[in-house]
Amino acid sequence: MKILLIGSTARADCIAEAIINSKTKPELYAVMPLLNPGVKQKAKELIVHSVMDFNFILSYAEKINPDFVFVAPDDPIAEGLVNELEKIGIKSFGPKKEVARIESSKSFARELLKKHEIEGLPKFKVFSDKKGIKEFAESLKEIVVKPDGLTGGKGVQVQGDHFDSIEQGLNYADLILEKGKVIIEEKLKGEEFSLQSFCDGKTVLDCIPVQDHKRAFENDSGPNTGGMGSYSMENGLLPFLKKEHLEQAHKITEKVALALKKETGIEFKGILYGGFMLTKKEVKLIEFNARFGDPEVLNVLPLLKTDFVEVCQRVINGTLNEISLEFESKASVCKYVVPKGYPVNSVKNALIEFKETKTKHYFGAIKEKNGNYLMTGSRAMAFIGIGETLSKAEEISQKAVESVKGRIFYRKDIGTKALIQKRIDHIANV
Ligand code: GLY
Repeated sequence: MKILLIGSTARADCIAEAIINSKTKPELYAVMPLLNPGVKQKAKELIVHSVMDFNFILSYAEKINPDFVFVAPDDPIAEGLVNELEKIGIKSFGPKKEVARIESSKSFARELLKKHEIEGLPKFKVFSDKKGIKEFAESLKEIVVKPDGLTGGKGVQVQGDHFDSIEQGLNYADLILEKGKVIIEEKLKGEEFSLQSFCDGKTVLDCIPVQDHKRAFENDSGPNTGGMGSYSMENGLLPFLKKEHLEQAHKITEKVALALKKETGIEFKGILYGGFMLTKKEVKLIEFNARFGDPEVLNVLPLLKTDFVEVCQRVINGTLNEISLEFESKASVCKYVVPKGYPVNSVKNALIEFKETKTKHYFGAIKEKNGNYLMTGSRAMAFIGIGETLSKAEEISQKAVESVKGRIFYRKDIGTKALIQKRIDHIANV
């Protein structure tokens, strides 16, 4: 079997590992924008090339003729790489662009849930110009301002976190309106969690839930990032999350998969990743993504006991209903090591050194030069502690990041007892 992975970042390194560990023993080929040292070790061939150059990818795919292509990042998914591969008779794991709009257009996502009466929606309105925007914003207590399109997770601004008054939020909305639509929503209060689900268009199978940490610095301060680290628990829940909450999130995901088919005539095949908020009363939907999360995938795939390639094939051929997913009953803590200054003004091309140990690690924004690893500016390396309990997993990942040398930083507090307690106290008091 041959699989072609289109990827970038540590997410691709982790997916590459899950692919080569399959009992089907596939040969892995990869196209990535950087010579990722982790993927290089795992792949038969790694081509460094833009993942947005579809002509190049199509001719490379035709040459190697893989059993399927795994499309990992949001941009090529949103631009329709899966559609183009299908036109030349090559199967893909990943949604077509019509249904990937659930991520690439926040207004499409909100309107879809509203039209199909799917629960979990906050109050929202989509605006193409300023008409009525002030009145609507002022009718809400506090607001969230979202650009309509893809922003790498960094475009959303929340009152109280990124701006103080409704007037300041509306100034940000004006800037967005110069380029496209803006969504104004009520601010939800509670704890966020990520539920990544395999979907073949009809059946939805959930991974264990994960909590990500978006802010750059300890105690959830500093600018938003792609995610500084994340954790999952041995019992398949989170410290503040009960089984009934997971069931609510699952129902929303399942209804969205069916609504997408009704709306577009196309089945969503890939990962439907819901960013949810557990509020005082219920589970609300923040947004859907059409791919694995980074770092969230780094928590779930290392614990997945079901054969990953088999699951991917079942997504593609629509037989997910015949299996269930099994995960090891272990906790995981992921801590990202990033260059100083990230995400605003990262040092570039700085050396990073670490000792190879048994602790799992995945390479992100790293390039290799003369046997040295250099950080290119974004999240550099992720270290994943896996243990019987959260505190053991945290200890392992913390020990690993402490051994990394270079102009770097990381969040010490991810997965610690103190931060977990803060989450539990927060949900009790919202
Ligand atoms: N961790 C956030 C994301 O992957 O979008």
